Amino acid sequence: MGKIGVVGSINMDMTVKAERIPLKGETLKGEDLKYVPGGKGANQAVAMAKLGADVEMFGCVGGDAAGISLVKNLRKTGVETKSIKTIEGVPTGLAMITVGENDNTIIVVAGTNDHVDVDYINEVKDALLECEIVLLQHEIPQETVEYVIELCAANGVKAVLNPGPARPVKKEILEKVAYLTPNEHEAVILFGEDISFEDMMKKYPEKLVITQGSRGVSTCLKSGEIVLVPARKADVVDTTGAGDTLNGAFTVALMEGKNIEDALAFANVAAGLSTEKFGAQGGMPSYDEVKEAMGR
Ligand code: RIB
Repeated sequence: MGKIGVVGSINMDMTVKAERIPLKGETLKGEDLKYVPGGKGANQAVAMAKLGADVEMFGCVGGDAAGISLVKNLRKTGVETKSIKTIEGVPTGLAMITVGENDNTIIVVAGTNDHVDVDYINEVKDALLECEIVLLQHEIPQETVEYVIELCAANGVKAVLNPGPARPVKKEILEKVAYLTPNEHEAVILFGEDISFEDMMKKYPEKLVITQGSRGVSTCLKSGEIVLVPARKADVVDTTGAGDTLNGAFTVALMEGKNIEDALAFANVAAGLSTEKFGAQGGMPSYDEVKEAMGR
């Protein structure tokens, strides 16, 4: 299997548990304050490394304690970190997460993730273009996302765009992506409210994958048939990072040569397993664990 690159965010997740998500203006008692590794980019890199893939992370951290421990964590899970840049004097990205009612809310403070800019990409370009496939999300500047997608397209490298958090993307950029994996909310931001999910998927067969939380994942096959790959039932502890696990596992399965339906089935099981433990990266499964769960 060739190398997979991730260009994206690296965050420290500050998580608290509460009996439920607070309402607007409400103060709730929380418990179990924890600082754990996160960031959509780093989470996807770790998910793929845990599944045995050869992964390199491209991103920025601060010279603070969070940045140092996050890079150490990536290295420990087997992710190549040589291209990660340390930006002195800028805090590492931080996410404030409330976990409650089998769901979460997240506020992200970009910090050094905003320094993943075009100049940085030019510095790491050689290593990036050694990758067979590159994953991107929306926690770094949009200009960088577009630049990387153009660069990949011009050099025969496939790009997978997980467009979260939601923001619009130019049509000509979407055309250059090999796979696009929004949730339903992000799909509406990309394609508007006047088109149904079915019609969106029909426009991009075997390329647009719409994730639907506990219902599963849908795509349109090249035959024109819409398929829903149902989610695996899980004993949910924490859904943080489930989408990242799905994106990572989907990419690994595609790299292995699986067809899109089988890749989504594999990714769904991996994502389900990831929700059964605490933390974005805490429950991410190994390849054998996914295979074993699929056989059950
Ligand atoms: O997708 C989950 C991630 O979103 C968290 O780890 C948090 O850092 C935010 O980026």
